[in-house]
Amino acid sequence: MHKKESIVAPSILSANLLNLEADFKAIEDKGADWMHIDVMDGAFVPPITFGDNMVQAAKRATNLFLDVHLMIEAPERQVSLFANAGADLLTVHIEACPEPESVLALIKESGMKAGLSLNPETDIDTIFPWISMVDLVLIMTVQPGRGGQAFRSECVPKISALSKECERISASPLIEVDGGINDETGKACFDAGADVFVAGSYIFGHADRAHAIKSLRFQRK
Ligand code: DX5
Ligand code: ZN
Repeated sequence: MHKKESIVAPSILSANLLNLEADFKAIEDKGADWMHIDVMDGAFVPPITFGDNMVQAAKRATNLFLDVHLMIEAPERQVSLFANAGADLLTVHIEACPEPESVLALIKESGMKAGLSLNPETDIDTIFPWISMVDLVLIMTVQPGRGGQAFRSECVPKISALSKECERISASPLIEVDGGINDETGKACFDAGADVFVAGSYIFGHADRAHAIKSLRFQRK
């Protein structure tokens, strides 16, 4: 079952590092639902970004739901840190933990929602065995590692394939898309079955952020 209205999750990877508190408040005031926090470890992906300390800071500055995307090796080592920091949802990559059952269980035992993500070149059926265990599936629509890349439209059929499989087994994880999302690419993903829209450069680079957020709020009839 898909949500009637989409969830908009600005990625703070594109926020102004010199004025983060203002940017956190701005997206909350301008109508965002979630805040997407990209954690990179310099191993699973080349860049290093932020850790649980950023989640702790965000928790103090905003009431938004904190959606934490772990692009890291050995995510099980970080679960309690992010739980203590106040993360609401913790997403791990299937490429970093090909047998994710125990880490997903640990995330849930720690009081957070659990998400599972996959890269553009990973087949969607790789994650099928765990769909009923997760609250969210994050389909990457760019190669993870940095913001501002072009949307990879070949990922759209993965959204439809996942929606179909969810229906077949009566599972209902949220479907999130991340990478190159704007009003047009977002609409294509929504039509294929996506529920949650992560956008970094589109929202933070927009002169009117409220408008950008609103333009990702799609409605199902
Ligand atoms: C990429 C990150 C994304 C990134 C998206 O590795 O997972 O969340 O911030 O940025 P845009 O929306 O600019 O493609
Ligand atoms: Zn992300």
